[in-house]
Amino acid sequence: MNMIGISAPHDAERFRLAIRRRLGLQFDDAKLGFLNEVLQRRLERLGRAAGEYLDWMEDGAAAGELGSLAQELTVTETYFFRNIEQFRAFQEVVIPARMRVRESTRALRFLSAACASGEEAYTLAMVARETILDPSWSVSIRAVDINPAALGKARNGRYLGWALRETPPEMQRKWFRADGRELVIAEAIRGAVGFEARNLALDDPELWPSETYDAVFCRNAIMYFAPEQAARVVERIAGALAPGGYLFLGHAETLRGISDDFHLRHTHDTFYYQRKDARERRSDLPAPALGLPAMAAFPAPAPVAGEAWMETIRRSSERIEALLAPPDRAAAPAPESAPGWDLAGVFELLRHERFDLARARMDGLPPEAGEDSDVRLLNAMLLAHGGGYADAAEMCQRLIETDEFNAGAHYVLALCREGLGDRAGAMDRDRVAIYLDAGFAMPRLHLGLLARRAGERELARRELAQALALLKHEDASRLLLFGGGFGRQALLDMCGAALRECGGAA
Ligand SMILES: C[S@@+](CC[C@H](N)C(=O)[O-])C[C@H]1O[C@@H](n2cnc3c(N)ncnc32)[C@H](O)[C@@H]1O
Repeated sequence: MNMIGISAPHDAERFRLAIRRRLGLQFDDAKLGFLNEVLQRRLERLGRAAGEYLDWMEDGAAAGELGSLAQELTVTETYFFRNIEQFRAFQEVVIPARMRVRESTRALRFLSAACASGEEAYTLAMVARETILDPSWSVSIRAVDINPAALGKARNGRYLGWALRETPPEMQRKWFRADGRELVIAEAIRGAVGFEARNLALDDPELWPSETYDAVFCRNAIMYFAPEQAARVVERIAGALAPGGYLFLGHAETLRGISDDFHLRHTHDTFYYQRKDARERRSDLPAPALGLPAMAAFPAPAPVAGEAWMETIRRSSERIEALLAPPDRAAAPAPESAPGWDLAGVFELLRHERFDLARARMDGLPPEAGEDSDVRLLNAMLLAHGGGYADAAEMCQRLIETDEFNAGAHYVLALCREGLGDRAGAMDRDRVAIYLDAGFAMPRLHLGLLARRAGERELARRELAQALALLKHEDASRLLLFGGGFGRQALLDMCGAALRECGGAA
């Protein structure tokens, strides 16, 4: 029997699932003990038995209880001008672009989703205020979070100096006044932001009006969400952004494998996204002609809504592994008209560094094979190997047009740019590949080597050290595909030597 305040081990598991469903947050097994403590505290506080409380949580606990839980469970770390490059892009790209679109209404709407104690939303207000000097324009900044304590602090508008650690001095002078140990935000800025308690994990039509916002900042929140919940939040944001509107995520967050409703933008040393217009949104395009037998045998890892981006990478690797293995016709019987792509043979030739023969094999594939993104990538890699940089670059560009978040294609493009004598362009592409797939060793190694050559020793040290750590665990099939004929040990040796040359410890 369930007694008041007492929970059994399986209650923590139920609690974890309810939190995932109601708040979006994901906790791994190592956090079950912590969740149990939180559950215990809530039961004692409310004087309820575990079973009854969990039924209530699963069936629709009121927003108040979810807010109390959020106070215990969420990370609210934030500060003004966090990732200042993003605010530069906001100022110099987003605001001017949206002002052009909104010329007739002269109204802009921005959303800070998961605003915590308000620093991000107030930063948006300051930047907008500094940029839009014409008083005939109206700017509304809506800021939402589920944590009532954080929202209370946000509405108060009083901060300690630490929250302003990245705030440019002129902004501090202009928009804050000291009151004892605290810094109080100017009324003009405070009045420009409206704070609301809202749950991002909910289909809330008031929060997500169709095609409304000019830009959404949703930073450092979905990284704590379960993959399917993160995907749903992004879907809601895509629906609520005006076509051509912008989305900013946290530094460690990407849309890779989550959504293809956006273009990736890279300016001001930072990454952000722009919503495609209706014409471009893939769901509105005619479905590609499916049914190629070999595709059925090795289905391409199209990003699946609701799947974690790491999961997509894993499936990508699995697919390449499947391509590497001799086709198991019994396990995956090919339809009668199977064109019989011998990609396993191509990989075998790669393994033996017979790039010329591998290329000849690829040339012999049926034309429809060229539609497959892995085949295209392999072709581009082989072309680049043979010095056909311009053709390989074009192939990558075409691949990126249909699969913008393909880290491998950006990496091969980096190799091509280098081959064409464009070092800055090569470094730029490597950065995109790294952003899209933080665990991908090759673009880090390449960027490190390019930086070393350019005399950028600190950047070289950082990227080579990261590459060294990642190479040890890099997927074997990815090394084969992208390693340029070098095995793991050879790449590790090369990376270690380059790192030592730059004064790093290998
Ligand atoms: C690390 S803070 C991010 C603050 C700010 N966006 C930034 O990047 O500096 C994460 C915030 O997400 C909020 N959050 C977590 N789950 C949420 C949900 N389901 N709905 C709304 N906010 C949520 C937390 O309360 C917390 O304030």
